[in-house]
Amino acid sequence: MSVAAPLDFFGCAGDYRELAPQIHVRVEEVLVSGQVLQGAHVQELEERIAATCGRRYAVAVGSGTDALFFALVALGIGRGDEVLVPDISFLASATAILRTGARPVFVDVNASLMLDLAVAEVKVGPSTRAMVYVHLFGNVGDIEGAEAFARKFGLKIVEDFAQSLGASRLGREAGSMGEAGATSFDPTKVIGAPGSGGALVTDDAATAARVRRLRLHGKEGPLFRELGYNSQLPSLAAAILNLKLDRHTEWTARRAALADRYRAGLAGLPAQPLPLEEGVRHVWHKFVLLADDRDELALALGRAGIPTRIHYERPLHRESIFQQSQPDGEFPNALAYADRTLSLPIHSHLSLDDVDRVLDGIARHYA
Ligand SMILES: Cc1ncc(COP(=O)(O)O)c(C=O)c1O
Repeated sequence: MSVAAPLDFFGCAGDYRELAPQIHVRVEEVLVSGQVLQGAHVQELEERIAATCGRRYAVAVGSGTDALFFALVALGIGRGDEVLVPDISFLASATAILRTGARPVFVDVNASLMLDLAVAEVKVGPSTRAMVYVHLFGNVGDIEGAEAFARKFGLKIVEDFAQSLGASRLGREAGSMGEAGATSFDPTKVIGAPGSGGALVTDDAATAARVRRLRLHGKEGPLFRELGYNSQLPSLAAAILNLKLDRHTEWTARRAALADRYRAGLAGLPAQPLPLEEGVRHVWHKFVLLADDRDELALALGRAGIPTRIHYERPLHRESIFQQSQPDGEFPNALAYADRTLSLPIHSHLSLDDVDRVLDGIARHYA
């Protein structure tokens, strides 16, 4: 019996295959120009990211993690401050807080695995200054609720939309809320660089100027005005990201068709997708389902050549790096979900037949 080739979990190679001739032209153009840092491609990318989010400014930096960190620094967050952050996210949502000297205060998550604003109310204390609000998996959280929460408690919001560039909810774009937002061009993201990259977005000219300084050794004009960092997005990466942005709408539509197929095919099965709220334009960075027998299901799919991943293995309050004193009892949802989430392959270069193969694997497991 012939065994089908394993599916690709990430679409990086497919992106390249689809754009190879244009990428080759851009690579040569940038290298021949000699302007391999900053320059026109970086500026174009910044303008396009700002427009995508409905923001006045975007500043390209070396990673999404740096974008988050710089946003917090520019907002004046530091030692002695507390910052709310969801207990389920990629680690960087919280390490960016730690890097400023502030303390991340973890908040349990709701059914969409995003920060539960009702729970957050009891976590606000006299030192709470800000909230890192994460839109997870390509979804968009409760933007208006989070803004109302921030107003009520006098908090600043840094939006982590690393996974949700181009997504929106009820007409509000991911990246449009709060004082500043951070996105990522990590190679696995919906618009991925050939390497690391990220961008900060804001409507505030002073915040944008500060982050432009921070990314380049504190330099403003001819002067080094503060201790900064070296966190530049290479021009080559920007040139390729601009090519990919041309495809963003089309590639998102392809992933949405795959997600629809997954959702229809999972009807009636014990493994169920995360809820999808009305009014959300999801960009399907990940397709996550919940299964009580997650590990057995993952093994069965793996045997059929279907790769899966777990996002995320541990709620953040359990990561030793944070040396937290927040007990497990404060995170019943995060702990329950962490044992049940399973991410299925989804990217712009999978076909509906590929999705049917995954669905068939799931159905056979439960047969
Ligand atoms: C939710 C979230 N926040 C932050 C980051 C950090 O971005 P980067 O890997 O570009 O530093 C990522 C991605 O890696 C992420 O998924």
